[in-house]
Amino acid sequence: MVDPSRSAEDARLESEEAFHDRRFETDGGVRPASRFYAITERSVAVMDAKLRAVAPGTRCLELGCGLQTLGWTLLEQGAHVTAIDISQVAVDQSAERAAELGYHDATFLKMNAEDLEFDPGSFDLVVGKGIIHHLDTRRSISEVTRVLVPGGRFLFDEPTGHNPLINLYRHFTPSQRTPDEHPLLREDFRIIRSLCDSVDFEFFHLLSLLALPLAGRSGFHRALERLDRGDEWLFRHLPAAAPYGWMVLIDGRVAG
Ligand SMILES: C[S@@+](CC[C@H](N)C(=O)[O-])C[C@H]1O[C@@H](n2cnc3c(N)ncnc32)[C@H](O)[C@@H]1O
Repeated sequence: MVDPSRSAEDARLESEEAFHDRRFETDGGVRPASRFYAITERSVAVMDAKLRAVAPGTRCLELGCGLQTLGWTLLEQGAHVTAIDISQVAVDQSAERAAELGYHDATFLKMNAEDLEFDPGSFDLVVGKGIIHHLDTRRSISEVTRVLVPGGRFLFDEPTGHNPLINLYRHFTPSQRTPDEHPLLREDFRIIRSLCDSVDFEFFHLLSLLALPLAGRSGFHRALERLDRGDEWLFRHLPAAAPYGWMVLIDGRVAG
């Protein structure tokens, strides 16, 4: 007998795969909204600093690597990188790029991040950018904690779903994303917290959204820096405002 929930899930995974295969084949993964991402400099820099602090030899797994994989930064630190994606196009193109860059020990595999084909305790660190919001949060974070060693760490850079302005933009541009993706909400943060030993959620880009009209113009970087500092101040003094920021860095650990 056909399990209806199973076939709905298969359909969701097939739709994610087809959407991303098509995107990576046609535009190399560059989104129409890419210029808006100029305002995410600060969250990108904080994530980059965390990746650059990773020790050589660390066994890392990247989920949903796409083409702009975080793996390049980890490989530069001398880490061992296994990167997975549901898109065969992303896997093939990233593996080609790794060979061009001379990273012969990086492994790229086509795999579902909700059903990882690795033994428990296979990795010291699991990372990803823009992936958890494509997945079932409980299932994927349970898999992350399963494949981590005791005391292992996970780091994700994700969009949030509480900002009305960003949600309005999403509402009018549905073709830019898959039907099942779901920017993270308080409920997702609660689930993540419940599945690990400790986790820090660092939010970014609420006031800095005001710099959007200046993107690509002179004065943009100066304005952005000030607004980023404003966000830091605001989120420290009014933590309830933090989930309205556009991006969140999730830095968690499993019990040692
Ligand atoms: C928004 S893109 C991010 C890609 C890349 N991390 C980046 O920052 O450019 C989401 C990625 O997740 C992948 N993906 C979606 N669902 C997945 C799943 N169930 N398992 C593994 N990868 C998945 C997509 O193919 C795509 O490459």
